[in-house]
Amino acid sequence: MTEIRVLGAADAAAFQALRLSGLQECPTAFASSFEEESGRELPAVAERLAPQGDRAVFGAFAGGELAGVVGLMREGHRKLAHKAFIWGMYVAPAARKQGVGRELVATALSFAATELRVRQVTLGVNAANPAAIVLYERMGFKAYGREPCFMLVDGVPQDELQMVCFLPPAD
Ligand SMILES: CC(C)(COP(=O)(O)OP(=O)(O)OC[C@H]1O[C@@H](n2cnc3c(N)ncnc32)[C@H](O)[C@@H]1OP(=O)(O)O)[C@@H](O)C(=O)NCCC(=O)NCCS
Repeated sequence: MTEIRVLGAADAAAFQALRLSGLQECPTAFASSFEEESGRELPAVAERLAPQGDRAVFGAFAGGELAGVVGLMREGHRKLAHKAFIWGMYVAPAARKQGVGRELVATALSFAATELRVRQVTLGVNAANPAAIVLYERMGFKAYGREPCFMLVDGVPQDELQMVCFLPPAD
């Protein structure tokens, strides 16, 4: 049974361990890298997780262990404040294909609608990542653009698909 909840500073060590596994396992899935984040001290990670009004990081726990994460953050500029974006989606290999990714995205979208009260949620996904693209499409995201050579991983160009999910208007 999977429990999904907002992570806090006390989850910093578990979050950092899972995040680094993801960056190591899937360098083409994230703009950040293991090399950039492996030296990050736990207090800095805890600060990233501390509850704030414009963001949240959600964790999926299976058997008490953190097995998946996704971040959600409102855009910083006033004129963009009707939008939030998803970052850092990762499910540990042993927990995949059991609906954990779906539950994490559903929780993030619900939080975006009811807590952040944004109108739309965006994300970027490697155009060569069908597992993630199918997941996002199933959750209501539609692709609206593609950036060629969004990033270079070991010198290999990677295209990014930009996706958006429009939320029902808040009452
Ligand atoms: C992408 C990822 C998050 C999916 O997580 P998951 O927990 O396995 O996803 P779910 O079990 O909730 O599956 C959701 C949907 O995606 C589809 N899906 C999942 N893995 C798939 C795969 N390998 N190929 C095709 N479709 C896949 C499922 O069919 C499912 O749709 P359905 O319920 O209608 O059948 C996971 O594979 C992962 O962490 N990958 C590495 C990191 C990554 O790519 N992150 C995304 C960064 S943008």
